[in-house]
Amino acid sequence: MKVPLLDLNRLYNSIKEEINKAIEKVLISQHFILGEEVKQLEEKIAAYCGTRYAVACASGTDALLLSLRSLGVKRGDFVITTPFSFFATAGAIHNVGAIPIFVDIKPDTYNIDPKQIKDLLDKKSFHTKRLNVEISRIKAIIPVHLYGQMADMDPINNIAKEYNLDVIEDACQAIGAEYKSKKAGSIGSTGCFSFFPTKNLGGYGDGGIITTNREELSLELKKLRVHGSERDYHHLSVGYNSRLDTIQAAVLLAEFPHLDDWNKKRQENAKIYSDLLKDIEEIDCPHVAGEHKHIFHQYTIRVKNNKRDKLMGFLTQKGIGNKIYYPSPLHLQECFNYLSYKQRDFPVSEKAAEEVLSLPIFPELTDEEIEYVCDSTKSFLVD
Ligand SMILES: Cc1ncc(COP(=O)(O)O)c(C=O)c1O
Repeated sequence: MKVPLLDLNRLYNSIKEEINKAIEKVLISQHFILGEEVKQLEEKIAAYCGTRYAVACASGTDALLLSLRSLGVKRGDFVITTPFSFFATAGAIHNVGAIPIFVDIKPDTYNIDPKQIKDLLDKKSFHTKRLNVEISRIKAIIPVHLYGQMADMDPINNIAKEYNLDVIEDACQAIGAEYKSKKAGSIGSTGCFSFFPTKNLGGYGDGGIITTNREELSLELKKLRVHGSERDYHHLSVGYNSRLDTIQAAVLLAEFPHLDDWNKKRQENAKIYSDLLKDIEEIDCPHVAGEHKHIFHQYTIRVKNNKRDKLMGFLTQKGIGNKIYYPSPLHLQECFNYLSYKQRDFPVSEKAAEEVLSLPIFPELTDEEIEYVCDSTKSFLVD
């Protein structure tokens, strides 16, 4: 048996006619940029997330970048985030001229640890080897809802209020996830989503969207995505070309009615995995923190005792797709050498990078396939 990490063909085949019809409609309209479907998608996503506005853009990375810009984060400012995320989270901070300040994660959820944010802010200033960070120049916090489970948002928001910081939710992996019955993207100043094809709601190319309750931000975001212009050839600020293609919006609209079912299937698959793997001593199954709805963008286990890489090799040999998200924490990336972070600065993230392993979790996975993955894992670690 072969079990891929992800099989987008199965998803496409299950709704092929709806998708093809949606794309054909755009082809007939020939309205490829900011067409009607983009507006419809923005309304649907805002209503789904429970926010007043949603502004579509070209990618999740741009959603972060435009959010930072709309909130006035600029050269010389600092932004707190997690070192255990996809590169784009810190890359967007760098690309607005600001400096990422990392705070370690919690070992069970892999999300940023609010207590450590508070400890950092309670100092008046601190030094890395080369940087003198004045707390007053920290402008925002970007918690990442990693693997489909939201960060611990209440304490993060309380800290943000105390220090007058904006919160940008990196919800790129978490569309439909909930924290205390509030949807991802509805709690911060903005919420950033990615429609990268592998995401729980994935387009047929790059795409993203920003949710917000603040009208002034939604207006600024709409300007920033078209070169900072409100009307043709009149530019109040220098923005970007960052629009969602109408074809992408049409695909996403066709998929959207299935999103909750797909997320439910992922949760059911996760339950089967956790039931079958829970007794293996060398594995920690994903921890779903209280009052969270985890939508399992990834099903990520922790493999202890230095066995992760060997297990990976074994599963690959058995035809089972698997991947490490993420093998190298962001503070150790070469491009951030200028921040002078070093090994062991964020031990929880570094340990996670050595131990995590994601297994196939996509909605169309069969029970037999999950059993095969679990039997293979057991045969390597237990038998
Ligand atoms: C946590 C996180 N942030 C940001 C991004 C960037 O999204 P995109 O690839 O759409 O630019 C992704 C997705 O790849 C992500 O997983």
